[in-house]
Amino acid sequence: MKPSLVAGAALLALSMAAALPAAEVPHLRAQGTARQLIVDGQPFLVRGGELGNSSGEPDFLRPSWPKLKAMNLNTVVAPVSWDLIEPQEGKFDFATVDGLLADARAHGLRLVLLWFGSWKNSMSCYAPAWVKADPARFPRSQDSAGRGMEVLSPFHAVNRDTDTRAFVALLRHLKAADPQHTVVMVQVENEIGMIPEARDHSPDAEKAFAGPVPAALMDYLAKNRATLAPELLATWNAAGGRTAGTWAEVFGSGPAGEEIFMAWHFALYVQHVAAAGKAELPLPMFANAALIRPGYQPGQYPSAGPLPHLIDVWRAAAPALDFLAPDIYFQNFSSWAQAYTRSGNPLFIPEALRCPEAAVNALYAFGQLDAIGFSPFAIESSTEPGAGYLTASFDLVRQLTPLLAEKQGRGQMAGFLQESAESKQPQQVRLGRWILRASFERAAPPQLADGLAVVIGTENSALAAGGRAGTAPAGGLVIALGEDEFLFAGIGLTVTFASTEGGQQAGILSCAEGRFENGEWQHLRWLNGDQTHQGRHIRLEPGRFALQRVKLYRYR
Ligand code: DGJ
Repeated sequence: MKPSLVAGAALLALSMAAALPAAEVPHLRAQGTARQLIVDGQPFLVRGGELGNSSGEPDFLRPSWPKLKAMNLNTVVAPVSWDLIEPQEGKFDFATVDGLLADARAHGLRLVLLWFGSWKNSMSCYAPAWVKADPARFPRSQDSAGRGMEVLSPFHAVNRDTDTRAFVALLRHLKAADPQHTVVMVQVENEIGMIPEARDHSPDAEKAFAGPVPAALMDYLAKNRATLAPELLATWNAAGGRTAGTWAEVFGSGPAGEEIFMAWHFALYVQHVAAAGKAELPLPMFANAALIRPGYQPGQYPSAGPLPHLIDVWRAAAPALDFLAPDIYFQNFSSWAQAYTRSGNPLFIPEALRCPEAAVNALYAFGQLDAIGFSPFAIESSTEPGAGYLTASFDLVRQLTPLLAEKQGRGQMAGFLQESAESKQPQQVRLGRWILRASFERAAPPQLADGLAVVIGTENSALAAGGRAGTAPAGGLVIALGEDEFLFAGIGLTVTFASTEGGQQAGILSCAEGRFENGEWQHLRWLNGDQTHQGRHIRLEPGRFALQRVKLYRYR
């Protein structure tokens, strides 16, 4: 279809949408130890892709929607920027939002919106021109030499309230324009952080720093002492473990204490914005963090964002947020992802490095960590061929969604992940009466893997190019279908089995490859002989994603 016809169809869909009855607002619901995103009454697993920062305007994005759909995405994670929706103070223009809604609906996809408001990657580059150009009215943070930064200071109610007014207008607009909830969640701000110093030194910030730690924070820390992030507890204890005093008295005057101070104030600001937005439309909301490079100290990395060691501070200050989320561009995916499941935080990864491993990281996140969703960055730049790794892995997630949704939070799944080609370490998990031992095997990709020649931003392109495209990824997930039956989804996995019952040996009763259609298993072929090493193991061959269903038995 020509772009103009697509736009016409999209507009028609938008106007029809307005006539639909309001659907249940997406929300989180507990199941066992997990919390699931519920959309249209069903658990919804986000097979997402985040757009590059400047790719969300409808006319630019329109040609990419068919590709995003073909990659088996069910959700596009898209920025909405303050400068575009409020170009003049108090005058809102939601054309970009309406275009996204219409095009997403026309392709049967959902949206997670990212509010690029006061902060985007520590800076305030998405604030409208009328905010940027008036620092007397909209005060900026200052460094310790008193120089202004292009960063709105969180210590000024005028900044917070002006941002809040725009965010509320956005949610009010969605309430009217999106009764069917094409938008399933909203991220509030983007990668908040202080850099290159750990805290704001503007006069109001100095005054706040010299004042007492609010009782609300002290009470929260005292009440939750047993489960506090160990790093936070260590900073507090190192300063003497006081239960009252100035910020420097309670948390020390070093960068770690300064970071806690900033985290509290950023989170309070975000709480104000999110709570006001939720009062209009109570969509699930979250904040995301840029993670820490090894060995960096507060001030050297974007500090005070919703990082694992600050999770308690953010929780205490911003209860309107449903969860905190990591943007994972580093190789040690599993440890960062795991850190975001601390004290019941549901895992959603709004940004991940778009590299071959993303395809197995997704399976690991859903299978091992009960994730709500996974979403590689700059997805519209993907050069994945039809049979790309992410496309294939998202196809498996699509097929398995009813099963994953049923099993999340119930201790009946596990993930397998080889984080680097060099790691030869097999992985062992116990599920019920069986021990599963997986080893990994990679294949050379048929062509240059996705994620190299694409624009993903200067910060992360070096990581993508870090020698990771030489092989296909290896990893996957396993679901216990019954006491002695398992379903494997993945690539490059060889799994052996052992019984937990002494004296018993494990045998493979049957192994089949197949697929799920509408939640029903469709048999493709029995695997035996060379494919199971004559009954010794199962093998999901390197270079190809597959589903295998295995029945085990015991013998002496
Ligand atoms: C993380 C940010 O959140 C994104 O908006 C983008 O700037 C990427 N980094 C670039 O790699």
